[in-house]
Amino acid sequence: MASQARTSDRPDYTIEQNWAAYTPEEHALWRTLFERQAKILQGRACDEFLGGIAALAVTADGIPDFRRLNDVLDRATGWRIVAVPGLVPDDIFFAHLAARRFPATCFIRRPDQLDYIQEPDVFHDIFGHVPLLANPIFGDYMQAYGQGGLKALRLGALKNLARLYWYTVEFGLIRTGSGLRIYGSGIVSSKGESVYCLDSPVPNRIGFDLLRIMRTNYRIDRFQETYFVIDGFDALFEATRPDFTPYYSALRHLPELEPGAILPDDRVLHRGQGAMADA
Ligand code: PHE
Ligand code: FE
Repeated sequence: MASQARTSDRPDYTIEQNWAAYTPEEHALWRTLFERQAKILQGRACDEFLGGIAALAVTADGIPDFRRLNDVLDRATGWRIVAVPGLVPDDIFFAHLAARRFPATCFIRRPDQLDYIQEPDVFHDIFGHVPLLANPIFGDYMQAYGQGGLKALRLGALKNLARLYWYTVEFGLIRTGSGLRIYGSGIVSSKGESVYCLDSPVPNRIGFDLLRIMRTNYRIDRFQETYFVIDGFDALFEATRPDFTPYYSALRHLPELEPGAILPDDRVLHRGQGAMADA
């Protein structure tokens, strides 16, 4: 079984990946997950994501060695991956992002968790998050988010800001010339949700609206009831560039919204408007 450490004795919560300790079964599990997702995501994930996979040569061979990945990633955008045992405290997480370090778990799920695991594992963290860190604009967004996280902590607004991460970095959709595409890491690392988020008539797909998102609760234990759709990474970066301090003050007086809510002002995307997958 896995021999990756599950605790850290360092103040920044990092550990060594200990790549040599992965078993052949663990590498095989990565291959299974990778090949499955690579196939499903053709025509579903955005070009920036698919390009990132290729550029980093995160191939199907096995669990990547973070040292090799970092050589390429660092040269592309100055980002690096650091290994951590699991979820880390908010302030530690934000400080890593602000310094262009992405904390990634290094253990891999068990075979019986192939289709679903609630906590992040190395497949989610590397396959899901790292390809877009090779994109200059998205890389800058993630760093700004880390800086914004430290500020939100000081202002007691973490709940608002965490929703932005959830509905963009983890579960975001993007509108492209050839239809809706996926960029959220929680979607691209999930077989079921990669199909559901684009093909199912059930969930809402609503145009990105920063304050609307920061009011909206989310569920972590099922497919999303609402996806928010950006028009591009530039637009996302610009919308989140202002100082959030006045936004947080305004949000204190606004009621929070349930995950499935639709407001009169929402830009709801419907099939047949050229908004859905074009196929
Ligand atoms: N502009 C935000 C602030 O001042 C920081 C931020 C940037 C947050 C990008 C999220 C994403 O708090
Ligand atoms: Fe994640």
